[in-house]
Amino acid sequence: MTKKTENNLNLDDLDNHSQSHTNELYEHWDLIDGKKVTSKQVVEIINPDGFSVIGTVPALSTLEINEAYAAARRAQKNWEAVTLLKRIEILKKWRNLIAEHETELATIMMKEIAKGYKEALNEVRRTVEYIDYTFEEAKRLQPSAFTGEEFGISNKLGIFERVAKGVGLAISPFNYPLNLAISKIMPALVMGNTLVFKPATAGSLVGTKLGELALSAQLPAGIFNVVTGRGREIGDILVKNQEINFISFTGSVDVGINLLETAITKDVVLELGGKDPALVLDDLQLDKYAKQIVAGAYGYSGQRCTAIKRVLTTDPIADRLIPHLIKEIDKLAVGSPKENAAITPVIDQKAANYVLKLMDDAVADGAKVLVGGQHRANLIWPTLVDHVTPKMALAWEEPFGPVLPIIRLKNRDEMIAVANASKFGLQASVFSQEITPALIVAKELEVGTVNINGKSQRGPDSFPFLGVKDSGFGVQGIRETLLSVTRVKGLVINY
Ligand code: NAP
Ligand code: G3P
Repeated sequence: MTKKTENNLNLDDLDNHSQSHTNELYEHWDLIDGKKVTSKQVVEIINPDGFSVIGTVPALSTLEINEAYAAARRAQKNWEAVTLLKRIEILKKWRNLIAEHETELATIMMKEIAKGYKEALNEVRRTVEYIDYTFEEAKRLQPSAFTGEEFGISNKLGIFERVAKGVGLAISPFNYPLNLAISKIMPALVMGNTLVFKPATAGSLVGTKLGELALSAQLPAGIFNVVTGRGREIGDILVKNQEINFISFTGSVDVGINLLETAITKDVVLELGGKDPALVLDDLQLDKYAKQIVAGAYGYSGQRCTAIKRVLTTDPIADRLIPHLIKEIDKLAVGSPKENAAITPVIDQKAANYVLKLMDDAVADGAKVLVGGQHRANLIWPTLVDHVTPKMALAWEEPFGPVLPIIRLKNRDEMIAVANASKFGLQASVFSQEITPALIVAKELEVGTVNINGKSQRGPDSFPFLGVKDSGFGVQGIRETLLSVTRVKGLVINY
């Protein structure tokens, strides 16, 4: 008989990995120029599920950070001179170690950002697939050739290839400490660049574990350097170094825009926040719509940039959609990531307080909590708030937590207007059984990607991924990322 926990979860799964939940303190080190770097100054890493200290990472000084850039510069030309195939061969050893350490990486991630164990494991496996696809796609970045014949010019052959940009800075957010790190790191390295990588503090144990595995894989010294410390303290040192040729940042709008203003280079890719709307145009498949909306809104407790963060629809449809939403929300287990609960504690109490304030202010202004609203410290129950109006901050701000507002509007035009009035423009979802109105609405929406009858999401990782307005600058997704870390270089032969 399958043993079940109070949250109706399969205990057998639990036993498999609980052994690895020792209370060891992760005292991790950084990686600079192929060497381990420790420091008297450390940053404590806190488990969001109970706030215990689970480890430390170095708080690096300006000198050490500058040394990381110097090492990256020293290594760059030699690394670029290695053939693509050889670089892939060398990086594959690292890829294999990441795959082999999936349980350890998932366990650290579960403890460090309270992501359910299974979800963390999926992130590791998704990342390994991302790497494999990146290696294959890099081989397809073949040069293009031109002759000039079309301009009546003969005896001229132009070959235009993609070449490395040089030394890069990669800064990742807390919510995907492995996937949103590697999605910057591996395309840059495979194309002959070298890197300084700064993981989010809440994600630094995973980030430094990557460094440890890179050392075990014997990556050439200096091609990949890991630096840690609080972003607000070392941020400017990081982004103003003369050696930087390009930057890839994923994080909040405020930090991203500040970075764009202060960085030494303007060659910056920014993946920032979102307020993705779900526009529900009819009531023909409400149960299916509700499943997608709830999965989109409450996945990783709403801490996804692509989370559905508002429902826009009319009164009649809202009245019929709500029972379906509540039915799906009631299925969400609330609890500990160790038990693979769907809703787990958000990253810290400050983040939780921000979410709770948005909810309380909306209720104070007349909105109605239909389900949820309670919390225990930073564990917030999945919350559905009805009658949220454009006068409320909850209609516009990115909570990054498990709360979903329903905004009732007169008609489709008003839905489009409210959708586009947001400073964000990452993705949107349009739910409709008729394709014509869905396409007409999709055309009007000012976002990077519109999902018809599906939740907003970044994957599959081969798809271009972008945000417009305050949601970002530049395009990601595997091929686009490879293009963003290289530049065109021409060779014209006159014969
Ligand atoms: P964040 O607070 O902006 O931090 C992102 C990264 O920037 C972290 O590594 C952080 O380090 C670092 N940082 C902080 N201050 C800095 C500074 N002055 N200069 C340089 N770097 C600095 O974001 P987060 O809380 O980690 O992530 C949540 C946000 O990211 C949300 O808004 C979410 O929507 C967005 N996000 C967007 C995407 C996307 O693909 N569009 C994906 C994921 C997340 P510390 O951790 O040490 O502060
Ligand atoms: O917030 C991380 C972002 O990149 C979302 O990824 O795959 O959960 O949509 P995904």
